[in-house]
Amino acid sequence: MAKKIVAGNWKMNTLKEDAEKLASEVVNMAKDEVPSDVTLIMCTPFLHLAKVKSLTGSATNVFVGAQNCYEKANGAYTGEIAAPMLHSYGIDYVILGHSERREYFKESNAVLAAKVDIVLENDMLPIFCCGEVLDEREAGKQNEVVKNQLEESLFHLSADDFTKVVIAYEPVWAIGTGKTATSEQAQEMHAYIRGLVKEKYGEAVAAETSVLYGGSCKPSNAPELFACPDVDGGLIGGASLKSRDFIDIAKSY
Ligand code: 13P
Repeated sequence: MAKKIVAGNWKMNTLKEDAEKLASEVVNMAKDEVPSDVTLIMCTPFLHLAKVKSLTGSATNVFVGAQNCYEKANGAYTGEIAAPMLHSYGIDYVILGHSERREYFKESNAVLAAKVDIVLENDMLPIFCCGEVLDEREAGKQNEVVKNQLEESLFHLSADDFTKVVIAYEPVWAIGTGKTATSEQAQEMHAYIRGLVKEKYGEAVAAETSVLYGGSCKPSNAPELFACPDVDGGLIGGASLKSRDFIDIAKSY
């Protein structure tokens, strides 16, 4: 069975005090309200990671993730953050290939393959984002686009390494737009993704792979999305900045 995961992508939001308040609230509410079989992940800006990690305390189902890392282990790359640094702070997950990184920072499938490798080499788990833009969906090319993203950035991995990857399907036209994919659209793509994983790595690996949905997911639509057989959880943007909403989404299974 795939792990149930609700991950919050805080993006470039929260000042120091906001981050500490939000993380403390999430940890406290999670203790009382979120079933222990649901994994919660807070993916914060780099600066807040160490503090948020310390705030997770003894919670066993609350983890901390970064939103990116560089593809090299160290060296003269001014302004970048390396995977070994994140690991040394006890960071558990790293989001890779978010559409905002692909668009604004021109991250290619090849660069992302190198980032996936270095995250795994440093004993962290990638949350790998894939998804099509509106033009591609309107041209009926969404499957082709997602297949290409997975093949070029993930399918070089061994089966053993692949089981450590979380996939997040985020149709770009649904991110921050208030326009959610219908549960039929989400289920269709998630089943397609699981089918590709099955073809490449076999049935057992496919069944164990968590495939999250992202794009305007909120407490009101999470129950319907999470009820889809191939949707294992969500990667939440805007709604992860409100502890109440984030926790309510995690209670939607
Ligand atoms: P929104 O939930 O704000 O649409 O963002 C989704 C997202 O990009 C998560 O990574």
